[in-house]
Amino acid sequence: PDRISFYGERQAGIITPAQDRLHFVAFDVITKDRAALVDMLQSWTAAAARMTQGQEAGALGAVGGLPEAPPEDTGEALGLPSAGLTLTIGFGPSLFDSRFGLRGKRPAAMADLPKFPGDTLDAGISGGDICVQACANDPQVAVHAIRNLARIGMGVVSVRWSQLGFGRTSSTSTTQATPRNLFGFKDGTANLKAEETALLDDHLWVRPGDGPDWMTGGSYMVTRKIRMLIEPWDRTSLLEQETIFGRDKGEGAPLTGRGEFDEPDFAVRGDDGEPVIATTAHVRLAHPTQNNGARLLRRGYNFVDGSDGLGRLDAGLFFIAYQRDPRRQFVPVQTQLARQDELNEYIRHVSSGLFACPPGLLAADDFWGRSLF
Ligand code: HEM
Repeated sequence: PDRISFYGERQAGIITPAQDRLHFVAFDVITKDRAALVDMLQSWTAAAARMTQGQEAGALGAVGGLPEAPPEDTGEALGLPSAGLTLTIGFGPSLFDSRFGLRGKRPAAMADLPKFPGDTLDAGISGGDICVQACANDPQVAVHAIRNLARIGMGVVSVRWSQLGFGRTSSTSTTQATPRNLFGFKDGTANLKAEETALLDDHLWVRPGDGPDWMTGGSYMVTRKIRMLIEPWDRTSLLEQETIFGRDKGEGAPLTGRGEFDEPDFAVRGDDGEPVIATTAHVRLAHPTQNNGARLLRRGYNFVDGSDGLGRLDAGLFFIAYQRDPRRQFVPVQTQLARQDELNEYIRHVSSGLFACPPGLLAADDFWGRSLF
């Protein structure tokens, strides 16, 4: 149960029950040499296949190689189990510029995200040519994996930005209890779940004919680093907090229901004639009925990057969402949230990423990105 298969029709790390820890990295490709890039992707794939099974990054390992050479594994995961490690690769819009002749392969669904009202994005921690999402139940295992990929990629890619996360903020399987985000609310209740295969076919996986063949069976990932203004939030009344989400804090039930999984009823009005779930409530604005049926598979993590030097926690939600077409899913939902969500008073979007994650690899002779090059 600890080891998650690296090979399969789908990449692991999407509907895999969300692990506890994240190390997410975005790379820039720094070589102009297409063959060097392809070669690195092959080496990455071999290392990823090994590391996800609890092995060292290279066959000679941390201590088995020549004493005169740098080791083939950095060693900090020696003796640790695979801890449910998954490595999920995605290719960003910037990879499809003129450098590698990939212009014609850019999927229309990977259109640049618009600037949303209120965005305060930092370009230095946004975008990237290639991303790898490492998830595991042990942070050392996730960090080890990313570090070794960066080491293998030296001279070909450089790390543009990376993010650590903990305490998954979503459940992606009905077998998981719903965790809480740093605002203290259950997060992931109405998420798409691994068991909902028909919904996943409609909303998560790219279908034949949706776009270029190389993405069929894959999924598009949107990342948003969302800073939470923790101190103002903590001075907000419970009533206000629950009104903002449209759910109660204890159970996670919609304000029109009693159980966590009760469907919200947006038509119900209170004694004052006002809707019980406010028109500016997060769950109303994000709900499929308000977004032409659009749904997302959310797979985010909490982060605390220490404090900001002004006595405030530098904390928030590293939002990750997978979907079949961001133009019909993330973009309209976020447009609506950015315009009307009461939550905006307490959050800032500081980074953004968009990546095309191809389908999984079926056998050891295949490699990440082969269908692209
Ligand atoms: C639901 C928190 C940002 C999309 C929820 C829920 C919470 C929550 C507590 C209710 C429980 C659940 O169904 O998971 C937050 C926080 C955010 C944030 C704290 C920022 C820091 C976003 C963003 C998006 C989004 C950026 C997408 C653009 C959704 C969706 C739902 C949801 C689709 C389910 C709505 C439904 O079907 O009922 N969120 N969220 N959220 N959120 Fe967010």
